[in-house]
Amino acid sequence: MSSDSSALHSSAVINEAVQNLRDGGLVAFPTETVYGLGADAKNPDAIKQIFTAKGRPSNHPLIVHLAAPDKFDQAQVDWVPVLAPWVRDLSEDALKLINVFWPGPLTLVFKKDKSVLNELTGGQDTVAIRAPAHPIAQELLRKFKGGVVAPSANRFGKVSPTSAADVRSEFQGMLDLMILDGGDCEVGIESTIIDLSSGDHPVLLRPGLITPGEILSKTGIKVYLPGEVNATKQDDGLPRVSGSLRAHYAPTTPLRMYAPGRVLDALSEFPDIKSRVAVAVWDSDSSLGEDGHPSVHFEEVIVPSDSTSFASRLYRSLRDLDQQGWDLILFPEPPAGEEWDGVRDRLQRACFGSGPSSSSHANS
Ligand code: TXA
Ligand code: MG
Repeated sequence: MSSDSSALHSSAVINEAVQNLRDGGLVAFPTETVYGLGADAKNPDAIKQIFTAKGRPSNHPLIVHLAAPDKFDQAQVDWVPVLAPWVRDLSEDALKLINVFWPGPLTLVFKKDKSVLNELTGGQDTVAIRAPAHPIAQELLRKFKGGVVAPSANRFGKVSPTSAADVRSEFQGMLDLMILDGGDCEVGIESTIIDLSSGDHPVLLRPGLITPGEILSKTGIKVYLPGEVNATKQDDGLPRVSGSLRAHYAPTTPLRMYAPGRVLDALSEFPDIKSRVAVAVWDSDSSLGEDGHPSVHFEEVIVPSDSTSFASRLYRSLRDLDQQGWDLILFPEPPAGEEWDGVRDRLQRACFGSGPSSSSHANS
């Protein structure tokens, strides 16, 4: 991904994108996770445009994206001056996480500096920050010399885009948007989010490629699951993570998961038997192992049985299948294990929000 994709854009194009951001416009850009819809984090009007373009409720906070400091010949870069304008109380644990995982697919939530705009935090006293690893994102941020807020570049509740063409199709006819093309996103699902704002326990708000197990082994820091910490603190009704809504990341075609060997059971929810069903099958399984169904035409779609490759292609597959006119899409339930938590989480929400009426779904 890295060296090829940075060649996709001349510095003149990046400069134009920087100018757009400075002028209060929106720019879509690639990150290693998914494409983001960017705006100047210091411009309240630009931030409002993001909410309007996405159809996102204004109390759902955005992530601020920052450039990594230059490394020069130091062994370790100094993140403190980069974060100081945004964050109150930068703990030792926070710096440990940052030094190990940034730039990369990890978002950290801090108590915010008072200068951080309420428009971007949804009125909360915390701010989410990440330094994306994609070279085009880094070049854009370095040249912009400021924070860029960037939600995933999709309409609210829909599947996140992992290519420039996906972004284009999300906003076709609605928005004349500058899109930086960095090829296909490598990680494929959104960053892991960890809340450091309580000051005692780091809490996992959204699972992703970087797991609590990896964090523990690389930093010695234990990350708690929301259920493991004081429930009242986490459950004040504020929509901290829009991806935490039951319906999210959803295709228009009905989507369900099936347990190993139980494809026909998954159809039972659909009494008027669907005739064209796409069934995702692990590449490690030779076939569905089903006897079939007299009135259903199944077509197998092979999906990787390795969690990282699966994540990298999940949204691509959902988007492509959604375009193909199936009556129903079936995906295998991911196996147990924290490396699968990110994709299990996205698939569950995608199933819940899927179907033709998902755009008007109460929760999406
Ligand atoms: O990988 C990613 O994180 C991508 C790329 C573009 O960077 N961005 C992304 O943004 O997924 P978005 O807006 O689609 O999801 C960000 C999530 C939201 O669900 C939001 O609620 C949560 O981060 N968030 C933002 N600020 C927060 C805060 N102060 N406290 C808790 N959660 C926060
Ligand atoms: Mg999103």
